[in-house]
Amino acid sequence: ELFAPTRANARGWDLADARDRAEYEAARAPFRTATFTARPILADGPAPGGDPVAIVNPADPSDTVGSVHPATRSEVDRAVSAARPWDAPASERAATLARAAALYESEAGRLCALFAREAGKTPLDAIGDLREAVDFLHYYGAQASAVTTPPRGVFACISPWNFPLAIFTGQVAAALATGNAVLAKPADQTPLIAHAAVEILHRAGVPRDALQLLPGDGAVGAWLTADARVDGVAFTGSTATARKIQGAMARHLAPGAPLIAETGGLNAMIVDSTALPEQAVRDVLASAFQSAGQRCSALRCLYVQQDVFENFRAMLFGAMDELRLGDPWDIATDVGPAIDASAAEALRAYIDAARARGAVLKELPAPTQGHFVPPTVISVPGIAALEREVFGPVLHIATFRARDLPRVLEEINATGYGLTFGLHSRIDDRVHQVAAALRVGNLYVNRNQIGAVVGSQPFGGEGLSGTGPKAGGPHYLARFTTAPAARADD
Ligand code: SER
Repeated sequence: ELFAPTRANARGWDLADARDRAEYEAARAPFRTATFTARPILADGPAPGGDPVAIVNPADPSDTVGSVHPATRSEVDRAVSAARPWDAPASERAATLARAAALYESEAGRLCALFAREAGKTPLDAIGDLREAVDFLHYYGAQASAVTTPPRGVFACISPWNFPLAIFTGQVAAALATGNAVLAKPADQTPLIAHAAVEILHRAGVPRDALQLLPGDGAVGAWLTADARVDGVAFTGSTATARKIQGAMARHLAPGAPLIAETGGLNAMIVDSTALPEQAVRDVLASAFQSAGQRCSALRCLYVQQDVFENFRAMLFGAMDELRLGDPWDIATDVGPAIDASAAEALRAYIDAARARGAVLKELPAPTQGHFVPPTVISVPGIAALEREVFGPVLHIATFRARDLPRVLEEINATGYGLTFGLHSRIDDRVHQVAAALRVGNLYVNRNQIGAVVGSQPFGGEGLSGTGPKAGGPHYLARFTTAPAARADD
């Protein structure tokens, strides 16, 4: 069922192909300076929302992308009252989600302009996000007929800014495919893409009382997760916020209301002395710095075997010098900005503290305007030195001796997180030893550790990294229904 022959992932655009590139540029161009507005979308249509909050381009704060009118307390209340599960046959729900997927693709120009201007995503990342969203719509829609247990009822879907379309759509599509009503609360940084997505889903035929949009900050999420009429919550974001949601649900929601949470990671990679250095360098760059490190899957702590460290370091730092940091609209850009001023300031303060203690091994020059944080490498004795997830283009490096490998694996497990892990090694026994020892959701061998593909690489973590079931995998939908809870590692 995981590798159903009829399933194909979205194609997207190949930016190395001149025709594809021209098509992509032409589709986005009309939206280079357009302005957008997001409001609550309730069952009876758009609602006024509160006072507008400006949304600015994180790469260029003089570019106002639009504004959002956050949902008010009474609008949230009205939305919960009006929510109705989607009472249509599973085949009809699947066909509707497939129509939405086609519309996402035909509206890619608008969506990809928003990826760049609202979320600071490079074209490579924008295309990846859009493809993943399209894949979720097809994948969950196709699975819906196989789910025989009834929907829970009303789901609150609370999504992050780092995959403003893919994760937003994944949660919403899973809840809708199984027949639930959805109250969608997108991240406060990226309401414009979410607004475009909901408008498309409605146009595709999702009933308005089955999908309502409630943009706003954490207050909207707090109202939803404290409302006894909500039957379940899907959340992707920080472990700290997941704990708050869990607390609110325990106090206010019915016992047994599910929380499906994908949270943080302290992700490691090990490069041993048998690894191909060129390949390992390329994969470290992608894992640590693509998306400006703003992926929960991103590499945070790299362990390099001491015997090859000098050579590896020289190659890695040389390759870092080739990275282009800048305007995420530009196809040549490798690394875009941090999401907003406060994220950039926190990252800069973290790097400053490391520099003050002499631990910065490598940093790149930063553009002078915009919320840019240049890719930076910080020396650490091991992953235990990382007190928390540093959500940006900051790579920590440690060295290890071959005989210390068991200790390194213990250290990685001891963080309590277990999302992604990467191993570069050409020794089969070592691969098996490491895979058996580590408690992580997604383990990648001799490749980068980001960009899990829907249907092929179900994505989700263990321990502090999430509840399971994995997104984009065969067990995800059941949790949105009254089926008994699946194991967290399904
Ligand atoms: N699904 C995303 C990835 O694999 C999460 O950050 O990179």
